[in-house]
Amino acid sequence: MNHPHSDPASRAQPPRQLPVPVQLALSEDAWVDVIQRMDEVYADLVRYQVDLEDKNVALEDAQRFIDSVLSAMSDVLLVAGVDGRVQQVNNALLRLLGSTREALVGRRLADLFTPVSSAVVAGLPLAVRHAAILDCELELMPDTGDPVPIALNCTARLDSDDTLSGVVITGRPLGELRQAYRALREAHDQLKTAQQQLLHSEKMASLGRLVAGVAHELNNPISFVFANMHSLRRYGTRLRTYLDALHAGAPAAALAEARRTLRIDETLADLGALIDGSMEGAQRVSEIVQNLRRFATPQRQTAAAVSLAKVLRSSLTWVERGLRRKPRVHLELDDALEVWSYEGHLQQIFINLIQNAVDAMEGQDEPRLEISARGEADTAVCVCVRDHGPGIAEADLIRVFDPFFTTKDVGKGTGLGLYVSYGLATEQCGGSLQVRNHPQGGAEFRLQLPRRVDDV
Ligand SMILES: Nc1ncnc2c1ncn2[C@@H]1O[C@H](COP(=O)(O)OP(=O)(O)OP(=O)(O)O)[C@@H](O)[C@H]1O
Ligand SMILES: [Mg+2]
Repeated sequence: MNHPHSDPASRAQPPRQLPVPVQLALSEDAWVDVIQRMDEVYADLVRYQVDLEDKNVALEDAQRFIDSVLSAMSDVLLVAGVDGRVQQVNNALLRLLGSTREALVGRRLADLFTPVSSAVVAGLPLAVRHAAILDCELELMPDTGDPVPIALNCTARLDSDDTLSGVVITGRPLGELRQAYRALREAHDQLKTAQQQLLHSEKMASLGRLVAGVAHELNNPISFVFANMHSLRRYGTRLRTYLDALHAGAPAAALAEARRTLRIDETLADLGALIDGSMEGAQRVSEIVQNLRRFATPQRQTAAAVSLAKVLRSSLTWVERGLRRKPRVHLELDDALEVWSYEGHLQQIFINLIQNAVDAMEGQDEPRLEISARGEADTAVCVCVRDHGPGIAEADLIRVFDPFFTTKDVGKGTGLGLYVSYGLATEQCGGSLQVRNHPQGGAEFRLQLPRRVDDV
């Protein structure tokens, strides 16, 4: 700002000449007084002027700083007054709308948006009074081209005395956000699919190990059903021979003899047991096949009351079917202990833990296994599987749950059993799975579960 009195030369020479008529009317003292006062007033004026110039420089610096920040912002910025007219915009918004600052400042805020959005925009100055931050998705209307969807964040602008003076709107085109979100969702979906495949392949690997045992298990009932059928066929022939004799009107003595030699009474007494035995065998085969199918097919699990003792016993049986030498197993199970959880998941975890335990004791003369399940607090239960094998190397304790970590020979372990079990225990069943080396030797796995899976 330029002022004539800011010139140092003019500051040093204040005007001292007064009009002649006034000069005549004043005494000498009064003159001195007036001149002094004028000097003071002038000095004050000069001081104010210097102050004003300093402030002006600071203001210009601040303005330049704000301008540079506004230009550097990649998000769009819009400031409007309470009258709903645009007061300030930044370069990002100008680029998006293909417009100039001059063309936008002073326009109605609602005119920058599509008609669908303008009703919301018109209500913004009022709406921000009641909300700290208002998020909305609206459509900006560029001078040329298609509407641009944008995610906006609106806040109230307050004066120094806290009265509402307008609204500050920042935002980002939804295209960018949507793209980033879509990419994120795709990556997440891929990850989930990969995890599902991993889970299934681990199941198939476990299944492969169990098949040998299952074949043996199926052989048993099938062979006694066969044996029973042979007997039944023989019994059928005997009964038909006897009935033929009866219908042919054979004398009573001949009939009695036939009854004795054909062992009709023993045959009749045996029939019930033979049929029951065959039914039982067929039932057993059907159960094994059912179990196998439940284990092999990926299916949605539904939570239900699960007896831990029952699932642990059946898991043990599954593993033992494939073993040549069964371990001595100490079971500490409370038959009344139930959890509301996913039976299939729990069975898969138990089979993995028990299989690992017996693998660790392979080659031992007296493999020993301890399995317990007990209630811990009102809301939790704990299942422990402990073996008497060599335990786990200290450095491996933190790696056993990693995918593909295995110390077993190729073809004997995929290194997925514990990884999958950990995922099932924590993410599906809401519990935890921990490992330690037991002070008296062997490895100990502890699975903690909530009593109700919904309690998580
Ligand atoms: N009870 C245990 N005693 C000693 N080491 C164990 C025990 N349980 C697991 N481990 C170690 O943890 C590793 C990983 O176990 P995990 O069940 O994940 O895979 P795996 O048994 O090697 O293969 P998979 O279960 O996929 O067939 C094992 O290879 C073994 O080194
Ligand atoms: Mg394993």
